[in-house]
Amino acid sequence: MITAALPYANGPLHIGHLAGAYIAADIYARYLRLQGKDVVFVCGSDEHGAAITIKAKKENTTPKEIVDKYHAIIRKSFEDFGIAFDIYHRTSEQVHYETSQEFFRILNEKGAFEIIESEQYYDQTAQQFLADRYITGTCPKCANENAYGDQCEKCGSSLNPTDLIHPKSTISGDTPVLKKTKHWFLKLDEQQEGIKKWLEETSEKNNWKAHVIGQCKSWINDGLRPRAMTRDLDWGIPVPPEIEGSEGKVLYVWLDAPIGYISATKQLFKEKANNKTEFSYNHRDFGNVKEEDWQKYWKINNDDDDKTELIHFIGKDNIVFHCITFPAILKATEQYILPDNVPANEFMNLEGDKISTSRNWAVWVHGYIKDFPEQQDILRYVLCANAPETKDNDFTWKDFQAKNNNELVAILGNFINRTLVLTHKYYGGKVPALH
Ligand code: 2FM
Ligand code: ZN
Repeated sequence: MITAALPYANGPLHIGHLAGAYIAADIYARYLRLQGKDVVFVCGSDEHGAAITIKAKKENTTPKEIVDKYHAIIRKSFEDFGIAFDIYHRTSEQVHYETSQEFFRILNEKGAFEIIESEQYYDQTAQQFLADRYITGTCPKCANENAYGDQCEKCGSSLNPTDLIHPKSTISGDTPVLKKTKHWFLKLDEQQEGIKKWLEETSEKNNWKAHVIGQCKSWINDGLRPRAMTRDLDWGIPVPPEIEGSEGKVLYVWLDAPIGYISATKQLFKEKANNKTEFSYNHRDFGNVKEEDWQKYWKINNDDDDKTELIHFIGKDNIVFHCITFPAILKATEQYILPDNVPANEFMNLEGDKISTSRNWAVWVHGYIKDFPEQQDILRYVLCANAPETKDNDFTWKDFQAKNNNELVAILGNFINRTLVLTHKYYGGKVPALH
């Protein structure tokens, strides 16, 4: 079971996305398929959270318009570039709402949540609670002045809005006030020992990347704290309505997004069982499958021969959510398997500067394909040869040109040319039999 991070549908796909997660995932999926392994490779658009609503505000439109527009662009870029997902789904689909709400109910019944009333930042001008990207400030760990309320992108720390120094609303620019509100918190503190043990055993057994396990250890050593899994927003999946106090509350985007891997798998098997292809592709023959067969790839199965390996391909800013929060959620259900490996890549910069959708500093995939029609493999080669596997790397057009001219044309092209010429000269244009 291979998953690739669900990109936010708040902007087009760029080379940082490709280098961070999708090329590596695609190579791995293709490699396993060639070996005849039973592989399912899923992805889709992440359509909730502040990333979307902030973009909608900026473009003076609705979140729905934003996700429809960028879902289509991203999906097309993946197709044109040749990333061979079995399905490219989206988190605004009905099956995803049902699956996410079902998870919430299970977690609630299993006692994985506690309801905590706390003081949260509130923007009095916009009359809105400020969570995640709605609030910025100085990171208490590394002094980055542009840390978000949930995370510092510079040092990777996972934060609460109240951790920020000099907090500021991204809606009005005002300094927010504190106001009381209730939320469902995942009791990560109670799972500390279980997650620690699982991380130690699994990372050792499967030889996790050093920077991934390094980040995990630092969170574990800091001590896991309960984390809010709901938000006061009007964009997102509602907390199941039969649950008391659910009114006006939606699921935190980082609760519903990884569940998107599971709903994508459900949708895939639904389509394969019914010979449909609304979201799925035909990169492999699934044979005669039933809708419920998705469970084989996600649910705990104690038969050793039939165990599924779950691998999440992500960028390094997603490590905490895939190595701690989502495993804690899966574990609390007592029904789902946990990841075997999370081979996160580091970042690909562009001409020495961090790639950024909001600052419009990126090489967009649809733009590349327009400028270099049919030349996807050159970009694939360059991003692969320079993959940010263990450290951040830099993409430059000079290097792109050099790799194309010196490596693909001069070395690979020359090798193929000589091979063909000699095959014609000495073997009548036929590959001779092996002796
Ligand atoms: O960082 C991001 O772009 C997130 N949208 C990734 C989500 S991955 C998964 F959990 F869905
Ligand atoms: Zn920081």
